[in-house]
Amino acid sequence: MNILLTGGAGYIGSHAAVALAQAGHQVVLFDNFCNSRHEVAQRLQTIIGHPLVVIEADIRQTDLLEKALRDHAIDAVVHFAGLKAVGESVAEPIGYYANNVQGTISLLQAMHNTHVKTLVFSSSATVYGVPHYLPLDESHPTSATNPYGRTKLHIEEMLGDVAQSDPTWRIACLRYFNPVGAHDSGLIGEEPNGPPNNLMPYLARVASGQLPQLNIFGNDYDTPDGTGVRDYIHVMDLAAGHLAALDFLTTHPHGRYVFNLGTGQGYSVMEMLRAFETVVGKPLPFHIAPRRAGDVASCYANPGFAASQLNWRAKLDLKAMCESTWQFQQRAARG
Ligand code: NAD
Ligand code: UFG
Repeated sequence: MNILLTGGAGYIGSHAAVALAQAGHQVVLFDNFCNSRHEVAQRLQTIIGHPLVVIEADIRQTDLLEKALRDHAIDAVVHFAGLKAVGESVAEPIGYYANNVQGTISLLQAMHNTHVKTLVFSSSATVYGVPHYLPLDESHPTSATNPYGRTKLHIEEMLGDVAQSDPTWRIACLRYFNPVGAHDSGLIGEEPNGPPNNLMPYLARVASGQLPQLNIFGNDYDTPDGTGVRDYIHVMDLAAGHLAALDFLTTHPHGRYVFNLGTGQGYSVMEMLRAFETVVGKPLPFHIAPRRAGDVASCYANPGFAASQLNWRAKLDLKAMCESTWQFQQRAARG
């Protein structure tokens, strides 16, 4: 298939580009590089072994999206493009709605106008809000605790309406848990601009000496060691989940489907720190800081629906997540 990846130069999109290209698909990246580096395209070519098309544009430029869909005879779109920093979304909600929601409307218009009706959307476990029970399955009630999460919920709802209105659409919303790790080449990985918000890139910068210590946000949660528990999933497993979702959509009836992409296994912040220390081979300085506003004690997936429907399961373990993060940090990350 010819597959357009909006946000394809970003962290998850670039890893999915590798998985899709290596499975024999033609991938076209469409990205405005607001949160990614131009070097990613060159690095992807090194990994994949052949050139790939990169279009530098904003998804709100509907005409350019339509042109890309037509020029490259696109069969399906994987929609990664979006802003994702929770704190920033609280400070700048208009920008988040404009980029994520308006951007998705623009994409849907372009797809509608060019009759490309197969879409995989990057959703998030954040749509579950505060868990009522664990593990989280797809029928857990949804809610939003911040503007970022609300953009994901709005988009999922829009996609439901679109699928309902026109029986030729096939849409999968993939609710990612906590993606971490990097491709085993060490050439691509997670490279946030500025100080990382997320645990793994923060740990990597502490280990490399770019940051003085890890601040652990709370050790008084109702968890085995008091620190927050999350479902960390290797980004290459997540990438494989996109391939499985596209296979599913092309072999199943129309409609909008929702799948959790997680491992089902939760690890605490302290367990993550210890695992990273083992890989790095030295203790890492940390400090117990107050809880971070908006954090929940525990969040992990029931991955059973994806296993049964997509024939997909995460395979890579915590050691692989830490090793690949550290390899990328040493080989190719900024700074
Ligand atoms: P990322 O910031 O690394 O990648 C997003 C890419 O989209 C970037 O390359 C950015 O330049 C591009 N982009 C943003 N707005 C754009 C626009 N208007 N037009 C064109 N390109 C645009 O983020 P990521 O971690 O790879 O996340 C990808 C998707 O997955 C996002 O939608 C995010 O909300 C979702 N998600 C991420 C996580 C996570 O923890 N990383 C968890 C759940 C869901
Ligand atoms: N944490 C720290 N110190 C840090 C960073 C994080 O202690 O410097 C802790 C957090 O309190 C939490 C855990 O590490 O307990 C994971 O935090 P992350 O920021 O890495 O991830 P979150 O679970 O908060 O959120 C991530 C994405 C969201 C997405 C969600 C989906 O950032 O966009 O996963 O589950 F919605």
